[in-house]
Amino acid sequence: MNTIVSASILSADLCRLGDDIDRARRGGADHIHFDVMDGVFVNNISYGIPVLKSVRKHTDMFIDAHLMITDPSRYIKAFADAGADNITFHIEAAPDPLDTIARIGAEGKKAGIAVKPATPVSSVYGLADKVDMILIMTVEPGFGGQGFIYETLDKIRELRAYLDKNAPHVHIQVDGGINAETSALVREAGADVLVAGSYLFGAEDMSAAVSSLRGGK
Ligand code: DX5
Ligand code: ZN
Repeated sequence: MNTIVSASILSADLCRLGDDIDRARRGGADHIHFDVMDGVFVNNISYGIPVLKSVRKHTDMFIDAHLMITDPSRYIKAFADAGADNITFHIEAAPDPLDTIARIGAEGKKAGIAVKPATPVSSVYGLADKVDMILIMTVEPGFGGQGFIYETLDKIRELRAYLDKNAPHVHIQVDGGINAETSALVREAGADVLVAGSYLFGAEDMSAAVSSLRGGK
């Protein structure tokens, strides 16, 4: 399985966002991860549609939007129009997940569904063949720079076994506390899309940090 590295710009220098996106690209990151927080579903507020539009103008990299917002169906069109290539929403925040997935598909975008650390992966089994990616949060959503929750490794293994049987093309993304050490554990457990923020943007050498997430030196 090829490992896809998604750089979370929550840890970028937002006054020099364009430069940091270029640094991630030059360092070999595959995707830009764009975290949207509404202060209701999570206890933090990040950035939203106008910032995404500027990021879209700046780069042709694949933009992976992670919506940590209540009732995400309301905002699918806005984030699609602003330039997201993938839109991931939380199962815990969506009153009608099938409707949200259908709206993402209608915009011609890839869809992801996310689960918080305490939410069982079985809660998304019924939706697995309708999405491109399932995101297993490896920290509580809301803040960058937190410690990896090791108990989530069993969830990744359980989901990989389920997907191998039922929907092998679906990616497993992990987000939170990913660094050189924890990346080896999540890859071994079956994740193939690794989001990292503080580890990548805090690194002296972005290329070395990106390749360490893929298991290189
Ligand atoms: C947290 C966000 C993450 C965050 C990860 O809610 O979804 O994408 O940027 O940050 P690190 O990699 O620093 O744990
Ligand atoms: Zn995220």
